[in-house]
Amino acid sequence: MYEFSVSKDDSGKILYEDLIEAAQALVANEPDTIANMANISALIWQYVSDLNWAGFYRVIDGELVLGPFQGKSACIRIAMGKGVCGAAAETGETQRIADVHAFPGHIACDAESRSELVIPIFGGDQVIAVLDLDSPIKERFSPEDQAGLERLIDTISSSLS
Ligand code: SME
Repeated sequence: MYEFSVSKDDSGKILYEDLIEAAQALVANEPDTIANMANISALIWQYVSDLNWAGFYRVIDGELVLGPFQGKSACIRIAMGKGVCGAAAETGETQRIADVHAFPGHIACDAESRSELVIPIFGGDQVIAVLDLDSPIKERFSPEDQAGLERLIDTISSSLS
């Protein structure tokens, strides 16, 4: 069992420094990518509020394949360039979508999702996976959430690839 201390500030916002420290501790000395993705999705699910899905898609043979996650059963395969996840994987750029209903080609794995944050994960100069977070709340993800989670992924990416 792991015990982490992940605090929030006075306005209830999570302190990403704490989450990043916890993520680093979780993957330390563990080479198995799937095990690390499983624990990181659980960590984010536990501490990042108002999510209805948190998990990974891996790039396998040129398409995205469902990886470890928390939330409802989801689409298994996503073509490069399709949906929010495919856009992040194809462009190598984070997609922070305030309202998924306004995103052309959004793939609705869970009808409850209203906003989405997808962060590409690099192995060298290749995107090897994405982290996908969904929320039932419109405009759930702020630039600070994006920056904090990008930092988290950046510091542990070698343990995910
Ligand atoms: N909504 C995503 C698909 C993955 S699920 O949200 C888990 C997309 O448009 O790529």
